[in-house]
Amino acid sequence: MGLDILPQSNEEYGTKEYWDKRYEKESDGTFFDWFKSYDDIAPLIRELIPDKTSRILMLGCGNSRLSEQMYNDGYNNIVNVDYSSVVIQQMRERHAIDRPEMEWHEMDVRALAFETDSFDVAVDKGTMDAMMTSKGDVWDPPEEVIENCTKEVDEVLRVLRKGTGTFIYLTFGQPHFRRRYLTRPDTTLQIKELGEAFHYYLYIVKT
Ligand SMILES: C[S@@+](CC[C@H](N)C(=O)[O-])C[C@H]1O[C@@H](n2cnc3c(N)ncnc32)[C@H](O)[C@@H]1O
Repeated sequence: MGLDILPQSNEEYGTKEYWDKRYEKESDGTFFDWFKSYDDIAPLIRELIPDKTSRILMLGCGNSRLSEQMYNDGYNNIVNVDYSSVVIQQMRERHAIDRPEMEWHEMDVRALAFETDSFDVAVDKGTMDAMMTSKGDVWDPPEEVIENCTKEVDEVLRVLRKGTGTFIYLTFGQPHFRRRYLTRPDTTLQIKELGEAFHYYLYIVKT
């Protein structure tokens, strides 16, 4: 990652302007995967999503290769959203020929323009994290952070099919800081700690 795409402050990760600017600089076909690549998590994904025809919502896709690699692994029903119009346009063009069934939408994860009960799976890799970078005490997050993360989870649970839906969230964020957003009535939460030197977490919410 070039230094010129690093933000001046951590807080910028929480702004659409930062991501648009960053993706404009990466318009040469760059891709970047936060935390983990598909190779690292493929066995887990295959276990969590046994049905390759599942309708999958990729939240804050960025220019990650995760959707492309899942598609190549047989998951052809993937709908990608990101609030950066810049990256959505780039990804749509990049995958139009080889992955025609994949959809790309400029959309905010806090206001999903999809029908209730319309997805089997939703995946978030580092997107909720980007909304948690505002100034403040991590032990006692600002109201705005709580509101943004709550809205995302509300929306995800709304669009997932009741009774059979799965929300998969991959992050470095430890349970103390994440559990509050993911513990909801009528759902179960499972947390897996993964990795060796650097630990990361897989949160699995089932509807
Ligand atoms: C840390 S990157 C992760 C990108 C990708 N998921 C990955 O694993 O590499 C966060 C992404 O989420 C997007 N994002 C942040 N907040 C968002 C929001 N409220 N709605 C939609 N996308 C958002 C950013 O534009 C950026 O592409």
